[in-house]
Parts: sequence; C-alpha cells; structure tokens
Amino acid sequence: MFRVIKCKNKTEIAEKVSLRIENQIKRKKSSLFILPTGSTPVPIYKKLVKDCKEGKVSFKKVKTFNLDEYLGLPSDHYERYYNFMMRNLFSGIDINPSNINIPNSEAKNFSREAKNYEQKYRDEGPADLAILGIGRNGHIGFNEPGTGIDSVTHVVSISESTRIANSRFFDSLEQVPKKAITMGIDTIMSAKEIIIVITGKDKRIILDRFLKEKDFDPDIPATALLKHGNVKVYVDREAMGGK
Ligand code: GLP
Repeated sequence: MFRVIKCKNKTEIAEKVSLRIENQIKRKKSSLFILPTGSTPVPIYKKLVKDCKEGKVSFKKVKTFNLDEYLGLPSDHYERYYNFMMRNLFSGIDINPSNINIPNSEAKNFSREAKNYEQKYRDEGPADLAILGIGRNGHIGFNEPGTGIDSVTHVVSISESTRIANSRFFDSLEQVPKKAITMGIDTIMSAKEIIIVITGKDKRIILDRFLKEKDFDPDIPATALLKHGNVKVYVDREAMGGK
C-alpha cells in the first residue's frame, strides 16, 4: 500500500497522524517509533503533548529512535536535535528517558557511535511506525541524494543545498553543521509502517517529483519508500500548490 492522503492544512495532518500514533500505543504499549526533527513534525508533537497532558495517551512504555543528529554543535545548542526533541516532545510527555534514543553527538568516535546505534535499533526493532519529513532535495533523515537503498546508520556530509535550507534555523550558514549521523535508508525501510509528512509551499517541487516517480531513484532518496509496501504520504494543500 502506498497511499497519498490529502489534507487541508498542518492542523488536520497533526490530528490524523497523532491519532495513528496514539492508536498504535493503545494496541501495543511498548511500541517503537522512529521520529524526525525539522519544522514539519512540530504540530504533531504539540498535539501528542496536549493529549498526554489530558490523559488521553501514555508513553510510559514507548520506545523511540530518532532518525538523525547533527555533529559538531555545542551540547546546549538550541538546534541540536537532542535539545529539539526535549523541547518539542519529550519534556511534555511521560516517556521513560531510558527509552529515548538519539545518536550521541558527543561520542568520541562517530563511526563507532553510528554502528552501535544501528545495532541497538536492530536489537530492539523493527519499528512499528516511522514518521518522516522530507528535505527539499528529497532527503529522508540525512540520507542525501546518491545514498544507497541498502545504507544503514552512518556518518554523512550534509549537502550544501540542505545546509542552505536548514540555515534558516541558524544565525548564519557557517554555523550549520557539515556532518551528521543518520539512520540509513535500509534502517528506515525496516519499519513495519511508514508515514511521510510533506507540508508547505517550499515542498511543492519535491512533492511533485516524488509522486511522479514509479521506482527508486537515488537522486530522490524518499522514492525508496515506493518499495516498502506500507506507506502513507500526508500532504497539505500548500504543498499541493493550493489544489
Ligand atoms: C532536516 C532533517 C530531516 C527533515 C528535513 C526537513 O534536514 N534531517 O529529517 O525531514 O530537515 O525539515 P523541515 O520539516 O523543517 O522542512
């Protein structure tokens, strides 16, 4: 199944995707999720925090693995994904901190950290559900164009176009890290179900290209999802060009 679900706006997507996450937790308390960062998931995380505070869902047994993490930022940097996740989701829900997994950007040896992260995920996984955003160049996690479909968690050089896109969160382009650790495409594809959320007018071009593809095209890493079998693509009107 590869279904495109057209929604009015980000609020409608946040309602639908958070409901799917909450139903998954109702079905299996110890569900394992792969989670993204970026601006796209923020409304979903807000809704989950609200519902948890209102007692509608509990994350006590839930396990999470984040897709990726920047390398080279100071540990208290606002944009470090660990801090992003704490701020936007984890500090507002009742998850057990020992069930949270994010690549450690303070590790001494980054390739070893990537290897260990992959191993821990494979030991505890596969994920019941992966939630993804998409980069303007079609990247998922930090799997930039050209990444192999069989890739596992690894250290990456972030492309110049992604650094420019992400520089909106930093004071200047120079401050955007050049490296990251990301789950590989194969790691992501191991999830039993994948939801990819594509919102806003900045994603119009990539959404159009993504939906036209019929098979994996390494120039658009997200097209690997065409090979998965259980994918839902949530799009809003802005990304569809107002349609
Ligand atoms: C970063 C992350 C991706 C994310 C992308 C899009 O590069 N590594 O996982 O999907 O940004 O971000 P946004 O949702 O802000 O457009």
